[in-house]
Amino acid sequence: MSLDLFLDDSELTARIQELKRERHAVILAHSYERPEVQDIADYVGDSLELSRLAAKTDADVIVFCSVHFMAETAKILSPQKTVLLPAAEAGCPLADMITPAQLEAEKARHPGAAVVAYVNCSAEIKAMADVCCTSANALQVVNAMPQEEILFVPDQHLGRFVQKQTHKKMILWAGCCPTHQRMKIKDILDLKKQHPEAEVVVHPESNEDICNLADAVLSTSQMLRYCQASPAKTFIIGTEMGMLHRLRTAMPDKTFLQPSKGLICPNMKMTQLEDVYESLKELQFRIEIPEPIRIKALKALDGMLAAVPAK
Ligand code: 13P
Repeated sequence: MSLDLFLDDSELTARIQELKRERHAVILAHSYERPEVQDIADYVGDSLELSRLAAKTDADVIVFCSVHFMAETAKILSPQKTVLLPAAEAGCPLADMITPAQLEAEKARHPGAAVVAYVNCSAEIKAMADVCCTSANALQVVNAMPQEEILFVPDQHLGRFVQKQTHKKMILWAGCCPTHQRMKIKDILDLKKQHPEAEVVVHPESNEDICNLADAVLSTSQMLRYCQASPAKTFIIGTEMGMLHRLRTAMPDKTFLQPSKGLICPNMKMTQLEDVYESLKELQFRIEIPEPIRIKALKALDGMLAAVPAK
């Protein structure tokens, strides 16, 4: 361990800001990151917003405080930039639930279907897809496809959420997010009994019974805007606990409750301030993608960004 790591948080933050200027870097953080990491980031967002930022930033270095597939998405969109993932081991179990060989076999079973890949997947899977989507735009992306049949990978819950709102025939891959799976409907109902005035806002990676009872099913940044616009003062938030910090920081006068204990993504929590500092200092851990895969994956991501232009 380097001696630099015996700094307190305020010294670390100051060094991070210094290094950020020297490197001409931008720090992006997902809504599920640790509070102290969200607080030093230039932007905190959902996967769609962070992809758009990564595509248009003029920084030389993107420090992506998140998990591997999100940093990979940034590299696909901005190959000329140095893209760094501060915690090398931060992966995504949902992204690992489909392999290229499995997708190849599933495509062969449904030759007429368009493949829509939720961004929570590897660059190889993106390269095999017709288009990507995030939780913020999945329905619009599916509806924009010319094909009537859609093979949706890898999250079955987001796929089912879209299926209920589209006329397209959807084939769903059986992947899921283990963190959202830990959320139980009973916990939400118990909390709702204690706070009958609270609105229930959940992520579409949640189980069907939970989405059915929610007042709104939204991506993480959509949750923020929804709670800001709502006259309600209390909200039950059905997603990873990092989101509570984001909501409480933006709306200190409102109350945000979490239904179940343990809604923690261990991968999103791997990045600590020390890792961000080391990442900027050592320019680690660099994301690299073989060019033939990147070019194909870029087509699927560009398709998404074009299908749903930024507002
Ligand atoms: P958002 O795009 O809503 O931030 O979600 C990403 C994610 O990985 C949810 O588990």
